[in-house]
Amino acid sequence: MRTRVKQALQAQKPQNGLVLKGWVRTKRESKGVVFLELNDGSCRGNLQIVADSSMICAEGFEGINTGAAVLAEGDLVPSPGRGQKWELKAGSIQVLGYADPKPYPLQKKRHSDEFLRSIAHLRPRTNKYGAMNRIRSELSFAVHHYFRDHGFNYIHSPIITGSDCEGAGEMFLVTALDLEQPAVRKKPVDFALDFFGKKAHLTVSGQLPAESLACALGDVYTFGPVFRAENSNTPKHAAEFWMVEPEMAFADLDEIMDMSQDLVQSLTRHIMNNCSEDMELFTRFVDQSLEERLERVSSRPFERISYSMVLEVLQKSKKNFEFPLEWGLDLQTEHERYLCEEYFQGPVMVYNYPLELKPFYMRVNDDQTTAAAMDVLLPRVGEIIGGSQREERLEVLDHRIREAGLDPEEYWWYRDLRRYGSVPHAGFGLGFERLLMFITGASNIRDVIPFPRTPNALEF
Ligand code: 4AD
Ligand code: MG
Repeated sequence: MRTRVKQALQAQKPQNGLVLKGWVRTKRESKGVVFLELNDGSCRGNLQIVADSSMICAEGFEGINTGAAVLAEGDLVPSPGRGQKWELKAGSIQVLGYADPKPYPLQKKRHSDEFLRSIAHLRPRTNKYGAMNRIRSELSFAVHHYFRDHGFNYIHSPIITGSDCEGAGEMFLVTALDLEQPAVRKKPVDFALDFFGKKAHLTVSGQLPAESLACALGDVYTFGPVFRAENSNTPKHAAEFWMVEPEMAFADLDEIMDMSQDLVQSLTRHIMNNCSEDMELFTRFVDQSLEERLERVSSRPFERISYSMVLEVLQKSKKNFEFPLEWGLDLQTEHERYLCEEYFQGPVMVYNYPLELKPFYMRVNDDQTTAAAMDVLLPRVGEIIGGSQREERLEVLDHRIREAGLDPEEYWWYRDLRRYGSVPHAGFGLGFERLLMFITGASNIRDVIPFPRTPNALEF
């Protein structure tokens, strides 16, 4: 049985005959003794392995360099060195996999994020991306815990879909047709011949199927990958990202605003309380104001402001925005930043957007000009959550579907939910990567997901 570095570092007393396996971070030699810093990914810390030079230099062992995988067997003893409580006095060391130091790219202590993106398959071996991936894992479990604690059922929305949830036409086509075939190349392609007998896409959101389950199980959520072919090459957009989507029967706009705030605050607090060693790295090397900001966001209520009030606030600001906001236009990053970072200096929920800005499924307010929609904006990352109360009235829904240029027939099953036992219901989608950016201070979405998918980038 191997002992993990994390367990060894937390030991309460010396232990004999431990086996550790991991990758060598550094090797240093002094007076006939070799010191290896061993990391196995179980935590940010390394365990120091101390061995006789004679053992290390036995056949082939001089090849143990940064990046090599080794098995070290020995006794865990108090370390006389500074900065660590324990070290492993090795009785034997076995090389599991050599790493040729010449081409191995992770030799330096620090590398730029841009460089590490080009070796995404190796970057989890660095301190920073080890920490990032551990936090990502912990945050995923925290999401599930949160909803389980609140009595939600975890459901699975399909990834292949026949409908465009957001109606934005930013979908990847899924086909089993051989597009090189002359029969298929003739235009227009006849998708009746395709696998599903119709055109299929990767879903942009799990919401529509989630509504069906919410209207049976009450409170449900999905947490899975979604796909968007929007060609916006920004630090906040990925073509494949993970979304957390709760959907609640009998709920209205106010309830999802309350839950959005509680969810973001609980998840933030969970990471602060459970990932302190890894979070310390981000506070030290990425953003020194991180801890203070997370503390503030997780303890103070979020501001709530209607879209029309936002217009007034921006007009009164006398700021020279590149894209001045007018009724019917979407908020740009510069507006989001002004609201969160200057005007309110904290998270903001904007609600009641102009109808024409929002998809067909959002509930039409009594003023007939706004939708019961809300977005949560956070300092630095901007929009992190988008949600709404859903249109539960069949006639209104049909009208909105037609207005969007869609065919009500195609949404027959979604319309059925309004024909049989229709109830007010509401939900939202939280961008998992955007939350990770907020929590770690990372400024590029490419750095919070192990293998980012963005325009012209599909190396790994
Ligand atoms: O606001 P959006 O488009 O909402 C929906 O898709 C709804 N159907 C969700 C629902 O009500 N169940 O997306 C939700 C969130 C955004 O606020 C943002 O955080 C994130 O998903 N997001 C992206 N994250 C990374 N890359 C992209 N290209 C993203 N597009 C949206
Ligand atoms: Mg949105």
